[in-house]
Amino acid sequence: MKIKVLGGSTRKNSINKIWASYVAGLFEGGQVEVLDLNDYKMPIYDEDYEQEHGVPAAAVNLLEKLQEGELLVISLSEHNGSYTAAFKNTFDWLSRVESKFFNGIRVFLMATSPGSRGGIGVLEAARSRFPIHGADIVGHFSLPFFNDNFELEKGLIDKQLKDKLLKEIDSIKHLFK
Ligand SMILES: Cc1cc2nc3c(=O)[nH]c(=O)nc-3n(C[C@H](O)[C@H](O)[C@H](O)COP(=O)(O)O)c2cc1C
Repeated sequence: MKIKVLGGSTRKNSINKIWASYVAGLFEGGQVEVLDLNDYKMPIYDEDYEQEHGVPAAAVNLLEKLQEGELLVISLSEHNGSYTAAFKNTFDWLSRVESKFFNGIRVFLMATSPGSRGGIGVLEAARSRFPIHGADIVGHFSLPFFNDNFELEKGLIDKQLKDKLLKEIDSIKHLFK
C-alpha cells in the first residue's frame, strides 16, 4: 500500500511530522513517503494574485503526490485552535486546483500538541471540512502531551493510548486488502 505522510506545519522539527511518520510505519506493508510542506512553498493566497499568475506549480505538484497514495496519514499542527497559516494557505491553493481536490483519497486524520487537548480544535475543523473537499476519512486520532507520551526511539509509550491507536488502525486494515 502506498502511504503518503504529511505534517501540518513547516517547522523543521514538527512534532506532527514526526508523529504522522511514526503512525504511518504502524501500517504493515506500507510504502511510506513523507512529504514536507517546505518542499511546496506557495505565496499567500490572494484572488488578485491568482488572476494574474494562476495557481502555483507547487500546488499542482503536491496534489499529484497526494493522489498517488492509497492512504494519506496526516497530523495537523494546531495554532490558536485551528490550522497553521502554512497549512491553511496550502489547503486554499489546493482547493483552487480543484474544489474536491482529495478526490476520494482515504485519510487517516490526526493531530498532536504538547498540551492536554492534543490539537482537538484543528482535528475537529478538519473532520468537518476535509470531506467537503472529497476526503474519505477512514480514521482519526488525537495525541495529547506529545513530549510526555512519545519518545523517538520507542514511539508511543503510553500503553492505553497505544492500544487505542492500534485498534483504530486495525479497524481499517480490511480497506487495503
Ligand atoms: C502561534 C501559536 C499558536 C499555538 N496555539 C496552540 C493551540 O491553540 N493549541 C495547542 O495545543 N497548541 C498550540 N500551540 C503550540 C503548538 O501545538 C506547538 O508549537 C506544536 O509544536 C506545533 O506543532 P508542530 O511542531 O507540528 O509545528 C501554538 C503555537 C504557536 C506558535
